[in-house]
Amino acid sequence: MIFENTKAFAQQLDAQDNLHKYRDEFHFPKVNDKQVIYFTGNSLGLQPKRTKAYVDEIMNDWANLAVEGHFYAEKPWWDYQERFSKPLSKIVGAKPAEVTVMNTLTVNLHLLMVSFYQPDAKRFKIICEEKAFPSDQYMLQSQVKFHGFKPEEAIVEINRREGEHNIRTEDIIAKINEVGDELALVLIGGVNYYTGQVFNMKAITAVGHQVGAYVGWDLAHAAGNVKLELHEWNIDFAAWCSYKYMNAGPGNASGCFVHKKHHHNADLPRFAGWWGHNKERRFKMEPNFDPVHGADGWQISNLPVLSLAPYLASVEMFAEIGMEALIEKRDQITAYLEFILHEIDKEVQGDFEIITPSNPFERACQLSVFLHGEGRSLFDYLMKNGVIVDWREPNVIRLAPVPLYCSFEDMYNFGQILKRGILEK
Ligand SMILES: Cc1ncc(COP(=O)(O)O)c(C=O)c1O
Repeated sequence: MIFENTKAFAQQLDAQDNLHKYRDEFHFPKVNDKQVIYFTGNSLGLQPKRTKAYVDEIMNDWANLAVEGHFYAEKPWWDYQERFSKPLSKIVGAKPAEVTVMNTLTVNLHLLMVSFYQPDAKRFKIICEEKAFPSDQYMLQSQVKFHGFKPEEAIVEINRREGEHNIRTEDIIAKINEVGDELALVLIGGVNYYTGQVFNMKAITAVGHQVGAYVGWDLAHAAGNVKLELHEWNIDFAAWCSYKYMNAGPGNASGCFVHKKHHHNADLPRFAGWWGHNKERRFKMEPNFDPVHGADGWQISNLPVLSLAPYLASVEMFAEIGMEALIEKRDQITAYLEFILHEIDKEVQGDFEIITPSNPFERACQLSVFLHGEGRSLFDYLMKNGVIVDWREPNVIRLAPVPLYCSFEDMYNFGQILKRGILEK
């Protein structure tokens, strides 16, 4: 499609967009009394208006039923997480028994590493990407130390080539082969939080398995954003948060995936708790742990139902729309944003550079823009003028044109505000 940098053209794209109506299903903050242009759904998604009813339901059941709510609530609390199995498994390309929701992201990655990082003197290394999200770096360092290894010896980072912003798949594959039989685990962010680069999860997983390692993914920036086929790609485990593209609210519960092939493996170590115990026998209060055969077998505690309610609201909304429709709009709106950025750059020499891959197969709903020179004042200008973006050191703003609630007209309006901001600088 040939794009135009005009309001009329953007409005025409909105008129043709089947998802445009969902915009009204979200609460938008206001700046200067005007609804903002919201580009930080990759950090905290907006609140769906339907979420409140899901939370109110739990509050009402709690008020009216108290402890009886565990079994007699409209949606009984004791197995509330099972309501996620079907819709969430579709979002991430899994079998229903392969997904569950519990805890928070870093906690879940730690718990999954209990099962999938069992180093010995020969096979103890972990491969991750350079500039992984800091929480992942801390997690990996603490895990290798916990097992008695030194982070500088056990953690192998894959670097970008000199002068390049993104990591090449061929370099990841070469490194996996080089580390070979010393490699215990590959654990990478499926979408890099900083650049927005989407990794080739299928190919990387296959090579990791060829050398005998487990392969897991941090899908914080991928869940609800990228087409995932976790089961087909034979991924061992994955976890993601629900507060970014999945719009489940600040710091909310995490989703987990454990491949079916591991569900009956009694030798896999895990940290256990009563909510992972055989469902039928859970309240018999038996002393020996008998895990549920599925991702639910990694559950530990009584469910935080008040947190899960907003997540369920969101997952059901995704199920209604389907990832295909979201991805189709995501690609179009991201391409339109990219076009707008280039147009503004041509008009006023913006002195910025998009560091996200231009190849649509290597990116999703995020463009990271590197601002050469004094970028912070431009960021401040955007924020003051109703464009919510985020700033990542040293000089990057990240723009996520979330297809569920951003409009093409937002992209056009953003371009005009950006142009004024650059000119005022
Ligand atoms: C890629 C990635 N991994 C891990 C985390 C940490 O998530 P949490 O604080 O929910 O554990 C984040 C948070 O933004 C993230 O973006």
